[in-house]
Amino acid sequence: MSLSEAQLINLPKIEDPRGNLSFIEEGNHIPFKIQRVYWIYDVPGGEFRGSHAFKETEELIIALSGSFDVLIDDGKSKNTFSLNRSYYGLYLPAGIWRQMQNFSTNSLALVISSTQFSDHDYIRDYQEFLMTLDYE
Ligand code: TYD
Repeated sequence: MSLSEAQLINLPKIEDPRGNLSFIEEGNHIPFKIQRVYWIYDVPGGEFRGSHAFKETEELIIALSGSFDVLIDDGKSKNTFSLNRSYYGLYLPAGIWRQMQNFSTNSLALVISSTQFSDHDYIRDYQEFLMTLDYE
């Protein structure tokens, strides 16, 4: 999988003096069927999350509150996305190594996933991740 398939998706933003509203519709703003939603919160300063790749799972990551960085790596090149707006989603295809870091205080990361949770879908060892690429 190549990094060029990872992209920021500009989500709808309905601006209103009473407060803004954004939304996601399956098949419209997100290129996969939604099977799971999870969120990461109360991250202590300096902590990292992620540091793994998925074999099948595709994800959309949104900074619903605060900010954090997502480092991505396809084994050939690396990129960093700084997420700090709740109307941008970072789409990550399967087969991309990712790490989330630099979480601001009270940040909230929402992750929309194409699969239900399965530990078998994780590649947690970076050398193993690189070896899976050799067979593509
Ligand atoms: P994990 O995805 O490994 O987080 P990180 O890569 O940031 O360390 O998830 C941490 C733990 O939570 C792990 O034991 C699996 C569990 N978990 C679920 O049970 N369901 C889920 O949907 C997710 C994302 C994690």
